Amino acid sequence: MSGLVIAVDGPAAAGKGTLARRLAAELGLPYLDTGLLYRATGRRVLDDAGDPRDPAVAAAAASALTPADLARADLRGPEADMAASAVAAIPAVRAALLEWQRDFGRRHGAVLDGRDIGTVVFPEAPVKLFVTASPAERARRRWLELQAKGIAADPTVVAAELAARDEQDRQRAVAPLKPAEDATVLDTTSLDAEAAFAAAMALVRARLPRTPSNSA
Ligand code: DC
Repeated sequence: MSGLVIAVDGPAAAGKGTLARRLAAELGLPYLDTGLLYRATGRRVLDDAGDPRDPAVAAAAASALTPADLARADLRGPEADMAASAVAAIPAVRAALLEWQRDFGRRHGAVLDGRDIGTVVFPEAPVKLFVTASPAERARRRWLELQAKGIAADPTVVAAELAARDEQDRQRAVAPLKPAEDATVLDTTSLDAEAAFAAAMALVRARLPRTPSNSA
């Protein structure tokens, strides 16, 4: 591995994307939101009016992904969320996306966020965070995000969608959502983004005494 790899896993809307992006900026590392790969795969299947639970169709979509797919504007929202979670349960889809993620991380090091970075994609990563928050707090944050985008949503429906997706991500047979044995669990229920970042940087410094920003 030619650079530092940091794994940031956790359930939906726990704040891992915000945290991972900030860690990457602080440490001068590339950042990869691996959820985008599953979202783009699900979107391709939906475009062709396919069923995201169909292994052959979903694996073909995953193998055909291009950078343009990852830049699409329609990768978020309830339909894209559930399609991503459905394709992510298919072993052939995960296999098709695995090397791409590893290549990305190996090139210059990286901060990657997802569900299985510390368990499957980079089990040897020296820093692993499992970022979580209570279901009610995660639902509140997701609802606020939607509000900020001008999307009216029923808080009860938002909470139910998050719960269904987490359940599907936790229960799948392949690479389920769970903390790696050597991950540090960071519960952000009562932490704002700043406090979560400070806690994560404290862990990075403890694990990697010679991190460039360790003098900060
Ligand atoms: O992080 P996200 O909410 O954008 O991820 C969307 C879906 O993709 C999520 O419900 C599960 C799946 N996913 C996964 O299985 N493994 C990853 N490393 C990242 C995401």
